[in-house]
Amino acid sequence: MVEKSRSLDADEVFLDLEDAVAPAAKDDARALVAAALREGGWKATTVGVRVNDWSTQWTYRDVVDVVCAQLDCVVLPKVESPDHVVALDLLLSQLERAHGLDEGSIGIEAQIESARGLVAANAIAAASKRLQSLVFGPADFMASVNMRGLAVGEQPPGYDVGDAFHHALMTILVAARAHDLQAIDGPYLQIRDVDGFRRQARRSAALGYDGKWVLHPDQIAIGNEVFAPSQEDFDHAEEILAAYGASTSDAGGRRGAVMLGAEMIDEASRKMAEVVVAKGRAAGLRRTGAN
Ligand code: GLV
Ligand code: MG
Repeated sequence: MVEKSRSLDADEVFLDLEDAVAPAAKDDARALVAAALREGGWKATTVGVRVNDWSTQWTYRDVVDVVCAQLDCVVLPKVESPDHVVALDLLLSQLERAHGLDEGSIGIEAQIESARGLVAANAIAAASKRLQSLVFGPADFMASVNMRGLAVGEQPPGYDVGDAFHHALMTILVAARAHDLQAIDGPYLQIRDVDGFRRQARRSAALGYDGKWVLHPDQIAIGNEVFAPSQEDFDHAEEILAAYGASTSDAGGRRGAVMLGAEMIDEASRKMAEVVVAKGRAAGLRRTGAN
């Protein structure tokens, strides 16, 4: 799996030392991950490791053993208070100094996946300059709040009046945006059900999330597609920017509210369009007809 992950088309690959590793295999997994990182060779632009959470006996050792020049970020699971992030931040600072790495160069991705974590999401998001993203962990979250149902991220049987995850997803999204972090949705465990993955990915992408974990190569292309704007939306966003730019210019009469087709556009429309264009450009889209 480690070997295969090197050639995958995901934006980020992280190697797991936490819940996908049995307690008796933690030491072996740590050594394997450290060796793989020293070798490097990933196509993904970001490479990370998910360490064990601070309530275990493994976290410090995980971090000490895996920090090397090939590591871009540490995924910290079960973050329940800002202290969890601060503790990792301090440890990373020492390790960066010890290894001659630029201070602050290793990022932190914090998983919010419990009632406590969700309540503290805003303070967690403000805890360190190293933070890059908040990540929703649906499996642990369902366990934490005693949500009925064993299918991760699926609506719990009996709840038919809305989306049982809306509050958690939105709280994390707002906390992330308030602190200029990315918001990432967690895993979909039924790896053979690609339609189920697509359905869930579309849900968080529609809310504004930047991406979603993938557990299997089959989920990658769908994730990349779902989290990029459609060509149609991208073209329309570019059109809004061009029309708004022209109307607000001196030549255009300095008009801040104009009609574009059947729709009135103004400064807020520009901001919305900027989001779509930025995501589209990051995904490699170009306006239809552009050279
Ligand atoms: C991921 O870690 C989850 O708990 O869903
Ligand atoms: Mg989890």
